[in-house]
Order: sequence, then C-alpha cells, then structure tokens
Amino acid sequence: MSSRVAITRLIPEPGPTMLAHQTVELVANSEDRSLDRAELRGLVGGCDAVLCLLTDSIDADILDAAADCKIFANMAVGYNNIDVAAATKRGIMVTNTPGVLTECTADLAMALILGVARRVAEGDVEMRAGRFPGWGPLYMLGGDVTGKTLGLVGPGRIAAAVAKRAKGFDMPLLYHGRRPSPDMEALGAKAVDLDTLLRESDFVSLHVPLSKETHHLIDAAALAKMKPTSYLINTARGPVVDEKALVAVLKAGAIAGAGIDVYEDEPAMAPGLADCTNALLLPHLGSATLGTRSAMSRIAAENIVAVLEGRRPPNLLNPEVWQGNS
Ligand code: GLV
Repeated sequence: MSSRVAITRLIPEPGPTMLAHQTVELVANSEDRSLDRAELRGLVGGCDAVLCLLTDSIDADILDAAADCKIFANMAVGYNNIDVAAATKRGIMVTNTPGVLTECTADLAMALILGVARRVAEGDVEMRAGRFPGWGPLYMLGGDVTGKTLGLVGPGRIAAAVAKRAKGFDMPLLYHGRRPSPDMEALGAKAVDLDTLLRESDFVSLHVPLSKETHHLIDAAALAKMKPTSYLINTARGPVVDEKALVAVLKAGAIAGAGIDVYEDEPAMAPGLADCTNALLLPHLGSATLGTRSAMSRIAAENIVAVLEGRRPPNLLNPEVWQGNS
C-alpha cells in the first residue's frame, strides 16, 4: 500500500510498528517533544494519515497543510485539540482512543481523592525534610474519605469507573449530566443538578469533555457553592476550571483542597497555585501507565489502518465524513 503516514511525536509501541507494516513511508518525529507549528505543517504535508497527540493543536491551518490527509487519529480520549468541524469541512476523519484509559484515569482520580484528603504528598515532603516531630494527636490532620459524598460531574465511562471505586469506600454518590446514566443509576448514584451537587458533595470530581459549554464550568460562582470542608478533583481538562478562581478559594481556605491533574495552560500553572499546600498537583498523568499508553497507541494505529484499507475507523468522531465518502 503506497501511503505516507505521520506520527507527530515519539510514542510507545505497538502503533509505530503496526503503521510501518502498512505504509510505504512512515514519517515520525522520533523525539519526545511537541513539534512547533512550522514543523507540524511540514510533517503532515503530503500525508494520507496522521497520528497526533493532545499536545498538537490541529486547527484549520494545519488541516490545510495536510490537504491529502484522510484521517487525524488522536492518541487521546479528549479531542479538544482538534478543530473537528474544520476537519469535517475538509472531508478529513478524526478519531480518538476511548475505553482503554478509563480504568487508569479512574485510578488516578481515586489517588487524588485519597491523596489530597489524607495529605499524602505533604506528608512525604515533611518526612524528606526531616520535619516529622513524632506522632501527635493534632499533627497533619486531613479529611475523611470513607462514607463521604462524592459528586461526579459528567456521567461518562470514567465517572462511572470512579463511582465503582468509591462504592468500596462506602461513599454516597451524586452525579450530574445532560441525561440520566444507566451505569450511574446501577451503582446507586443519584442524578442532581450541578448546584445541588456542588452544595452537597464532600468531593466534586470532574469528568466532562472540554467544549464551549464546559469551559470554566467551575468558576468563582460554582466554587463558592462548595462546602468549606470539600475538595475539588480535576482529571478532565484544565479549562473546565477557572484556575485563578481556584487559587483564590484555596488561598482563602474557602474549600478544603483540590487534587488537580490538568491545567488551563499546560504545562504552566496559574500564579499562586504552586504555593497552595492544600492542593495536590500532578502533571497530567491520567493515562500515564505503559499498559494504557500502549493500548492508546494500538487503537490510534488501528483507526489509521482501517482507513488505509478502506474500512470505517472504529472510533470515528465525525461520521458525516464517512457517509460522504461511502
Ligand atoms: C488524556 O488526557 C486523554 O484525553 O486521553
């Protein structure tokens, strides 16, 4: 098959080998860094397919540079980095990698819940600094997790996987989504509006995709509705939270803390966030296990192979393009 396929960054196997078997020419950025705009334009030019990452901004300009391209396969479940409408207009398919990172991301959300409430990272810092004064009845008290109410914003797969874990901690479950979720209901979660969820939850965990509707969904007004003893957990996308407003409430002690894996302007953080000892901060590790990243690599490659073989890709996000072609 005489296809030219690009991979925008060094990724784990098996995707690269799968694509190397399918193509005459595999052009891959072999470095573990994002390409700049000019490099990205250059790489995608003349390609039939591109495997890209959430750190690549695929806008109209990049799509125009990839005039012959049939598919951009994003190696991520989120695809806010791709202008899907612009791709659809140009007849380019867009795919993502849902499902395979659900459990791994839910594990990390649970780690943030436990870690921020029980001050795990803070305790580690104290030990390493030699500041442990010995056990004390008032030393480093945190918040309870078991039996506390968990509010899940967004009723998708990852939220349901977090709910499943939280049930092991006897946590009453609330959820908020645009429609009822049978998965959530089966776990005993109660559907509520966002205000109720914010007011009643001890942990508010975000699981919505980033879109115009969810940008700054958790703003100063939303944060003000949370209990002073509650925690915000974000493993979704940074811009879902107004990060400056979050810093203000953390500094004021208006909520108990936050467990954050994603940021508004990655890799930067809002000024002051790093000084908030009541925030547990991780560098976007939701899907960061070798097993999960390998599965994502395989699925992204499978989507490309399907298109190169004239089949509909399994994770197509803009089916109108396929219907237009078939
Ligand atoms: C990770 O953040 C993803 O969307 O896959």
